[in-house]
Formats: sequence, C-alpha cells, structure tokens
Amino acid sequence: MARDSLMIIGGQWGDEGKGKVVDLLSAGFAAVVRYNGGNNAGHTVRYADRRFALHLVPSGIIHDGVTCYLASGMVVDPSGLVAEMDTLMAEGVAIDGRIVLSPRATLILPTHRALDGAREGTLGSGKIGTTGRGIGPAYQDRAQRRGLRAHVLADPQLRARALALMQQHNRELELLFDAAPVDLDDALAELEGAAARLAPTLGEVGPALRRHRAAGEAVLFEGAQGVMLDLAWGTYPYVTSSSSLPGFAAASCGIGPKLLGPVIGVMKAYATRVGGGPFPSELEDEVGVRLRERGAEYGTTTGRPRRCGWFDAVAARFAVEVAGIDAVALTKLDVLDGLETIRVATAYRLPDGTTIDTFPADAELAEQAEPVLTELEGWSAPTAGVVREAELPPAAAAYLRFLEETLGLPIVILSTGPRREETLIRGDSALARELRALIAGDAPPAAL
Ligand code: GDP
Ligand code: IMO
Ligand code: MG
Repeated sequence: MARDSLMIIGGQWGDEGKGKVVDLLSAGFAAVVRYNGGNNAGHTVRYADRRFALHLVPSGIIHDGVTCYLASGMVVDPSGLVAEMDTLMAEGVAIDGRIVLSPRATLILPTHRALDGAREGTLGSGKIGTTGRGIGPAYQDRAQRRGLRAHVLADPQLRARALALMQQHNRELELLFDAAPVDLDDALAELEGAAARLAPTLGEVGPALRRHRAAGEAVLFEGAQGVMLDLAWGTYPYVTSSSSLPGFAAASCGIGPKLLGPVIGVMKAYATRVGGGPFPSELEDEVGVRLRERGAEYGTTTGRPRRCGWFDAVAARFAVEVAGIDAVALTKLDVLDGLETIRVATAYRLPDGTTIDTFPADAELAEQAEPVLTELEGWSAPTAGVVREAELPPAAAAYLRFLEETLGLPIVILSTGPRREETLIRGDSALARELRALIAGDAPPAAL
C-alpha cells in the first residue's frame, strides 16, 4: 500500500456515492473511519448481488482486513448501531473486534428522536426535512454540555444518568412542543440492551490510528453528508448539525491535521438533495423525474424521493474551495445516458438582475437564484458499465472534460454503475496510479 491516508467526502448535498467509493478502495487500508454525523447517513455498498446500506458502520466493513472506527465527532444511536451490527452478521460479515466506538462520541437517545420530530412539526413549510434520527437534538446537547457520551455504555450509573437527561427531554417535549412524552421504561430497556452489546466495542480512536500509521498501515476517512449540508458552509439553516468538511476529521479523531490525506470529493454527474432548502438547478419537469427513476434516487435512510437537477458547477466549485478537494470521483454518469441535451448551472441570476458565480451565504437569496445553464450535447450509446476510457461516447468524454475545466480538477475516478467493478480510474497522475494499485490488491472477502 502506497498511501498513508486518504479522505473521501461528499462534494454536493449528500448521497453522491461515497459508500461505493470507500468500499472500492478499502482493501488497501487497515482502518476506515467515520468522523461526522450519525445514522442520518446512508451509504450503499453493492457487492456481487448483495446490497448493504450502512448508516453508522464505516463502508470498509465488507473487507475482512479493515478495522472500522466511529470517532468522537459522531452522534451514535446505540440501538441503531446494534441493529446494523446484527444485519451485517446475518449477511455473513465477520464483525467481531472490527468495530471500535470512541468513548467520546455523543449518544442519541430515543427522546432525541422524539424532539427532532416535534421540532420539525412546528416549522411548517420552513421545516428542514431532517431524517428524524435525532441528529440535531443530540448535537445540541453536545454543544450545551449535557449530552451523554459513549463511555456511559460501560458505566454502572448508565440508567440513572440516562433517566435524568431523558426526563428533561420529556419536559421539553411537553412544554415547548406540546408533544407526548416518551415512555422512559421502554427507552431505558432499549438503551440498556444496546449498552451490553456495545460496551466491548469502546476504544480510543486517535491512539489506534497513530498505531496503524506507526506500523506503516494506511487510514481511510469516510465523510458523511456533503459540503452543501455542512453546518457552516452549507445552505444554512437547511443543513445537518455537524461539519462535513475533511478538516473536521482531525478534530473528531484527535489526531491533528498532519495525519489527514488528500481529499477526493465524490460528486454525481447531476445533482440531488433530500429535504428542504435551496437547490438552484432543480428540475421539476419530466427530466427531473427521469433522473430520479433512472438513478433510483430514493433515500437510503428514509426512502424519501430525492429532488433531482442538473450538475451545479457554482455549488461544486464552492465545495472544491471550502473543502480543499484535490480530485473528483464522478458517479452515476450512466444515469445521463440517452438524454439529448445535458445542462450545467455555471452561474446564478438574482432577482435584481445581477449574476453571481459563487454560492451566497444567505439561503433566502440562494432560494431565489435562477440557474444560468450551459448546454452540452448528450449521448445515446450507453456509458453504463463502461470501464475503459476509449469506450466512452465522445459526447460523454466531452462532458467530463467540461466538468474538469469548470472545476479545475481531474476526475480521477469515474463510476458508471453501482457495482464495484463498474469503475474507471482515469489518467496517469500519481494519485491515479496509487488508486489503481489499491484496487489491484483487492481480493473477495472470505465470508461472502
Ligand atoms: P452515499 O450516501 O454517498 O454513500 O450514497 P448513497 O448510497 O446514499 O446513494 C448513492 C446510490 O447510487 C446508491 O444506491 C448506489 O448504489 C448508487 N450508485 C453509486 N454509484 C453509481 C453509479 O455510478 N451509477 C449508478 N447507476 N448508481 C450508482
Ligand atoms: P449521506 O452520508 C443526504 C439531510 C437531510 C436534511 C438535512 C438535515 O448518506 O450522504 P439531519 O437528519 O441531518 O438533521 O437532516 O440533511 N441529510 C442528508 N441528505 N445524504 C445524507 O447523508 C444526509 N444526512 C442528512 O435530508 O435535509
Ligand atoms: Mg446516502
């Protein structure tokens, strides 16, 4: 293995295909680390005829030799994690000793889920469209310094500590939201059941990653969500409650920035978002419906239909800058097969007639932005499953060149289907050569 560490992050509004890319590259890494978000994420891995939907467990789990870490900056729903471990075991994945949960990660309790739903219920048409997993309320408790952290899963005082916090949550549900309180006997039973299973997984993440590096082993960081959902740099307030930027991995793992690697930003060949918020290149016509159906754009976590639109180069260039993306993994090119014309948003027109080409800070302004679209020729020969550059239809190759020029970055990974093998590593850069070497070392997992 050549590379010390590598970062895979979402370059749009989430669901770009990070799970596929992480799985593809995992064989070359000893450790795969989730460092932000919680089970709002849904990362799909397709292996042969199997489909895994991962929410908390890093997408490297399908590879036997990989240890999977959940770092301190995550919010972790204990029963959600246990359910995911059970599903993996039922699928024949050997997970024993391969999942390590930071004792500093914040716990999501059943009352956080109730608070998430209750708050959304008060927002009417301004609702964020959260995943309902309790993400915001748990991060709120973390910042408010009253949250429970994962080390309590091994604490004899777990019951008393969880009860005290959940009683406060129940008072808030009733007083602030006029909502029904959560049955705390059920909630405690759920928590205690999960705690017994998770206590053995507790372990410090930073020291473990330093040990991997000292042994010459490589670490892969798996971002969740995407830059445009980042708490500070996304379309606030229509964002998630944690950072989706690669720099957060250092803070979350407690390792300092020097252990972070180059950043691959995963982007779809078009754009999607789930939930509310500005989406200037959204298509509310039959082309949008076509992208949704061909791209199977339904949420991995909630099953909600995803909003679809043209590739937004304004948002993507912004993401490249704020996240320091070094190279792009472009996914789902095949979904554009058969379209006569393809468009890309290259600027926004504002109601006062001005044109801008950077993403505005004010979501209300972004909401009013009309996309300025550049037209490109579509292609009729399929790109689906193509794994050789020379087999791409000329118009598809021209589309890739256009995106590379617009973003000022190489598309180093091209994905033409959901499966691992439907992938092309492009060019002859040092990074491309390393990625090829990583994939060449891949062996089918013994258990599958
Ligand atoms: P993530 O959250 O970034 O990991 O992405 P999701 O798993 O939520 O959504 C991506 C979806 O697209 C999954 O269903 C993948 O199996 C699928 N997918 C990934 N790459 C490709 C591709 O190149 N072509 C097609 N057709 N589907 C893809
Ligand atoms: P992955 O990792 C797409 C969106 C929700 C909502 C907003 C806030 O699979 O790309 P939250 O539950 O986090 O408070 O919801 O963020 N969202 C995602 N959208 N992919 C995700 O993760 C997402 N995680 C959160 O739809 O709009
Ligand atoms: Mg997803």
